[in-house]
Amino acid sequence: MPSACVTGGNGFLASALIRQLLEKGYAVNATVRDPGNEQKAGQLKQMQSLGTLTIFRADLEEEGSFDEAFNGCDYVFLVAAPVKIMSENPEEELIKPAIKGVLNMFKSCVKTKATLKRVILTSSAAAVSINQLEGVNLVMDEEAWSDLTFLTTTKPRTWGYAVSKVLAEKEAIKYAEENELSLVRVIPSLIVGPAVGSVLANSTQLSLCLLSGNEGMIRGFRQMQCLSGSISMVHVEDLCRAHIFVAEEKVAAGRYICSAVNTSLPELACFLRMRYPQRRLTTDCSDLPEKSKVILSSEKLIKAGFEFKYSKLEDIYDETIRSAEAVGFLTPTANGSTHVQIGE
Ligand SMILES: NC(=O)c1ccc[n+]([C@@H]2O[C@H](COP(=O)([O-])OP(=O)(O)OC[C@H]3O[C@@H](n4cnc5c(N)ncnc54)[C@H](OP(=O)(O)O)[C@@H]3O)[C@@H](O)[C@H]2O)c1
Repeated sequence: MPSACVTGGNGFLASALIRQLLEKGYAVNATVRDPGNEQKAGQLKQMQSLGTLTIFRADLEEEGSFDEAFNGCDYVFLVAAPVKIMSENPEEELIKPAIKGVLNMFKSCVKTKATLKRVILTSSAAAVSINQLEGVNLVMDEEAWSDLTFLTTTKPRTWGYAVSKVLAEKEAIKYAEENELSLVRVIPSLIVGPAVGSVLANSTQLSLCLLSGNEGMIRGFRQMQCLSGSISMVHVEDLCRAHIFVAEEKVAAGRYICSAVNTSLPELACFLRMRYPQRRLTTDCSDLPEKSKVILSSEKLIKAGFEFKYSKLEDIYDETIRSAEAVGFLTPTANGSTHVQIGE
């Protein structure tokens, strides 16, 4: 039975990844900060019925706290990270803990080097596409890094998160090289789709803001297009499959962007209007550039043999809207039909 540890086990991505690993027959160790917190860890405990799942307490800020959970594992998925994107104190709440967290997790990886086949780090498109380039449809691949000078001098609203992801990734590369650990980094764009529990993840809520009408989220979505150059998304199920794919693929190395669709807010508003005509949009964002500046390329992942199941906007949104209706985040539409085929 292959074994894996997933850090941040209560989180949106980590809990979906744990479920997929259990379904594939892995023995899974999951780390959480507070196993006694039923509200957070309850859904994880329920997954123990799916297979061999052991829950450990670990905190990114505590050296040695991942030792027990990583011990003897074939694969370690480093998913936990500070994600308080709108932090008022990014240095203390995002950047320092992200770097320290990576270091602490890698120190625990080294202690179990004898069994460890690979470390898989979840980074972010925020570490790739934020720059001062101008243009339309600029293709960004794994060579691209967000511009730290631009971020730290102009300090746009979410600068700290992007900086934390760049620096954490670079720290991981350095530590893995120095200690001869096999490291692969997965770079997701906005992660959307159903959550394991009954609460829709923040990133999924963001993807639905044109339909929910949440003003704060619409502002955030607009900032995302302005800063990162596009609205790019990946379905959580595909992203979990990609994490397992790059773990198991012997020749995998370096970074892998995992992003299924690239669009802009005006294009997205147009798509939503046509596909879900029963739903009202409060804005069409037509003041923003119609074409996205950036296209995040997942070509490396696809060339390695990975196939997206949710490769089009309609695949992603049909499923995401269904899950939002199921948990009461969106009200089902009167005629019960969630979409029409574009062109009907
Ligand atoms: N969601 C997206 O759209 C998106 C896009 C690109 C990349 N990512 C990356 O994907 C990963 C997972 O994100 P997510 O959306 O699943 O976020 P999430 O649901 O908020 O999960 C983050 C997890 O990290 C844990 N964590 C935070 N600080 C910690 C600490 N000091 N010690 C231990 N654990 C800590 C949290 O634990 P608690 O449960 O105890 O709070 C939580 O379980 C992150 O690395 C994020 O940067 C996310």
